[in-house]
Amino acid sequence: MKFNAIILAAGKGARMKSKTPKVLHNISGKPMVSYVVETARKIGAEQIVVVVGADFPDLTPILGSDLDYVVQKQQLGTGDAVKTALPVLKKPKNPLLVMCGDTPLLSGATLNLATERFYAGHCGCVVLTTHLDNPSGYGRIIRQKGGSLAKIVEERDASGVERSIKEINGGVYCFDGVVLAKAIEQIEDNNSQGEYYLTDAVKSIVKGGYRVQTVTLEDAMELQGVNDRSQLSLAINVINRRNIQKHLDNGVTIIDPAHTYIDSGVEIGADTIIEPGCCLRGQTVIGEGCYFDNGVDIIDCRVGNYCNIIRSVLRESTVGDNCNIGPFAYLRPGTVLAERVKVGDFVEIKNSIVGPGSKIPHLSYVGDSDVGTGVNVGCGTITCNYDGFRKYRTVIEDGVFIGSNSNLIAPVKVERGAFVAAGSTIDQEVPGDALAITRVKQRNLPGWAAAKRKSEECRVESEE
Ligand code: UD1
Ligand code: CA
Repeated sequence: MKFNAIILAAGKGARMKSKTPKVLHNISGKPMVSYVVETARKIGAEQIVVVVGADFPDLTPILGSDLDYVVQKQQLGTGDAVKTALPVLKKPKNPLLVMCGDTPLLSGATLNLATERFYAGHCGCVVLTTHLDNPSGYGRIIRQKGGSLAKIVEERDASGVERSIKEINGGVYCFDGVVLAKAIEQIEDNNSQGEYYLTDAVKSIVKGGYRVQTVTLEDAMELQGVNDRSQLSLAINVINRRNIQKHLDNGVTIIDPAHTYIDSGVEIGADTIIEPGCCLRGQTVIGEGCYFDNGVDIIDCRVGNYCNIIRSVLRESTVGDNCNIGPFAYLRPGTVLAERVKVGDFVEIKNSIVGPGSKIPHLSYVGDSDVGTGVNVGCGTITCNYDGFRKYRTVIEDGVFIGSNSNLIAPVKVERGAFVAAGSTIDQEVPGDALAITRVKQRNLPGWAAAKRKSEECRVESEE
């Protein structure tokens, strides 16, 4: 049977002490709410409605255009948020899952438990619950003598006895659409927070004589809400561990999962080995058989197969197969390395293309450049790409050898097979197969140093 889903996301999240709405805080590369949206999609919700606040940015680029977004103008409580969403439901009689956008650890399998119980039980409502050693902050489940649910009491409104109850409301429900629509009209804001509580709709459904059932989860983790920064970091760690597990299952070696951070959008090929302290972020794709030594930090890059990367930072770059990078290299946005490229220690490359088999082994800056095949860029070479106003390109054609400590003042071109002598400053085109040398010619003055030492020694003696 078909069902709809409403995701409540409009709350400010005061306990986060943030300018960013709570559900938009990042967890492993995506806003918190996107995990809930994906789970709703995965289990086949027919229509998904997200309730957002008036100050939210447009979420369509992040969450997709297949969702409906409704704005809750004032955050008057979870009951009011649901009330705002009901009118946009195309099939209001369908069963309705209601979830909180601040419960990102919830799995599809668990949500299915709620819908299955709903269908099996001819219910007005199913509520997911769990037991917590420390239930503080959550609504408590109050049961009738026979064990069925009587009501949910928010902590702030609970009596001492009610507060001692360890069974909590997970904030996930499956409602009969028609029954909920009626119940939502009956709730009031006469509670400690002056809010319209969705939990009061559950109470009113019980009072209306409908069957209300609970599904009680053994594993409390999935119902963990994120209300403050401690719970956020807990959720980040759980999702990171899940991401790592997925890669371990796919044949990736991760030496120390507790000290490795892999975003949800990252793909990694089998037989890649990842040492501790690596962070792989964003939409990064890594090939097979790579070796990442400690502290590799990558955001939004594509790395080919069999690459060796040591303690380096890569941003929005593409790396071909069999490249060697680092230690301490920095690839900035727009860098494209072909296969078998070597980028060694303390090398920075920006917005440049480097051809197959080329080597930039040490202490260089290559910016806005086109480097051909089999090029050797000597230690300390710098492309001077910026004159304080504009940036210009440097072209280094196939088979060129750039001697150490050279400056290439762009725009400039070194043609195929040319040789730039070490220590040269090149500001004109170098023709193919030529040698370019711009150094002052060396002079040797025989005995100069010895004479200098002697005259200095005499001076010191006479001063004494
Ligand atoms: C809520 C439940 C509580 C439950 C807990 C589970 C109520 C009254 N309480 O408490 O019983 O144990 O979740 O995590 O429902 N939101 C809106 N508009 C609003 C207020 C909230 O969209 O006006 C959204 C929030 O963005 C959030 C969700 O609803 O994603 C829950 O709100 P929150 O304030 O976190 O409720 P809790 O106090 O955690
Ligand atoms: Ca919450």
